[in-house]
Amino acid sequence: MDQGAYQIRLSDKGEGGENKPVNSKITLSVIKADVGGFVGHSSVHPALMARAKESLSRADKEQLLVDYHVSSVGDDINLIMTHRHGVDNPEIHQLAWETFKDCTDVARELKLYGAGQDLLSDAFSGNVRGLGPGVAEMEFTERASEPVVIFMADKTEPGAWNYPLFKMFGDPFNTIGLVIDPKMHQGFKFEVHDLIDHKKVVFSLPEELYDLLVFIGAPGHYCVKGIYSKTTGEIAAVSSTQRLNLMAGRYVGKDDPVMIVRCQSGLPAVGEVLEPFANPHLVSGWMRGSHTGPLMPVGRAQSTPTRFDGPPRVVALGFQLANGKLVGPQDFFADVAFDRARAKANEIADYIRHLGPFEPHRLHLEEMEYTTLPDVMKRLTDRFQDIGD
Ligand code: F6R
Ligand code: MG
Ligand code: MG
Repeated sequence: MDQGAYQIRLSDKGEGGENKPVNSKITLSVIKADVGGFVGHSSVHPALMARAKESLSRADKEQLLVDYHVSSVGDDINLIMTHRHGVDNPEIHQLAWETFKDCTDVARELKLYGAGQDLLSDAFSGNVRGLGPGVAEMEFTERASEPVVIFMADKTEPGAWNYPLFKMFGDPFNTIGLVIDPKMHQGFKFEVHDLIDHKKVVFSLPEELYDLLVFIGAPGHYCVKGIYSKTTGEIAAVSSTQRLNLMAGRYVGKDDPVMIVRCQSGLPAVGEVLEPFANPHLVSGWMRGSHTGPLMPVGRAQSTPTRFDGPPRVVALGFQLANGKLVGPQDFFADVAFDRARAKANEIADYIRHLGPFEPHRLHLEEMEYTTLPDVMKRLTDRFQDIGD
């Protein structure tokens, strides 16, 4: 991303009337955390939402932000913020961190479930990455009209975006614009992160489609981090994918992801961006972070996982940006056009739940968030005998 590209605008005067450098670009930051569930891991208590809004409205008055919108999906609070300070800005990250800490205080008073669970460290050092919260941010020059969709999911992992991102930006059967829009016909670049070895690689589509799929078909290991237009070089999408850290023998940091997608005028249309969710794909992260289930598209009012702590949910909020102001949201998946997807997700849930503790409903041994295997194995070690040849 092109950071630090500042321009002088004549209307921006310093105290002495001199021209002051102003970043003409806008940054859209979505930072999320679960700091206490109501009830269990199912939703966010209204008192936490109120505290988060209070905290961001202070920063808004102090003009750190251009605008903000506080939302939630399941037990996760999502802070949607616009500002002119670029990605990974310490002040913006600190604001999110302090907001989540304030919300944790409320969660503790109400004895909400798992209060403060995503604030893994007491020491904030300028960036929330790796400390628990999830982050998706992009900096760009606002177009004449700038439609964006913020996707927020609960009970799944960042790799859950691989399939829909591929459909939106790589699959002509989903996105007809790739075939018939001259501004999209060249295709897109996909930046893929290896979450475990901490490496990245960029694929150019359509030429490298098969190479890309070798990797992103394994969403627990390789995730699409960002997508760029080959026509303009502009950033089109970014996800909250982050490095996985090996802690106490297991990888952490796979939590409930968010994603920003810019739409229209040479990028996929809003309808092409929503279309992949009409067919609920299977994702990891249901019950105890250890099961596979269908990703159900829902309006915000229905984003409360219940059955077997799920099924996993995704909400899509649409905004038009107007000089950084967030005009919206439009709660896209509340629309009746997604009723059949919800019904299908429920059918898939019925089917897969019958498998109980068997794979592929239950994740592979190495992927489970909870396991008793080492203890059971220790207890039974003496009973295992060689079978021989
Ligand atoms: C999944 C999730 C829940 C919990 C489950 C057990 O991401 O949040 O399914 O894993 O409710 O929670 P604990 O161990 O806190 O009782
Ligand atoms: Mg929780
Ligand atoms: Mg959650």
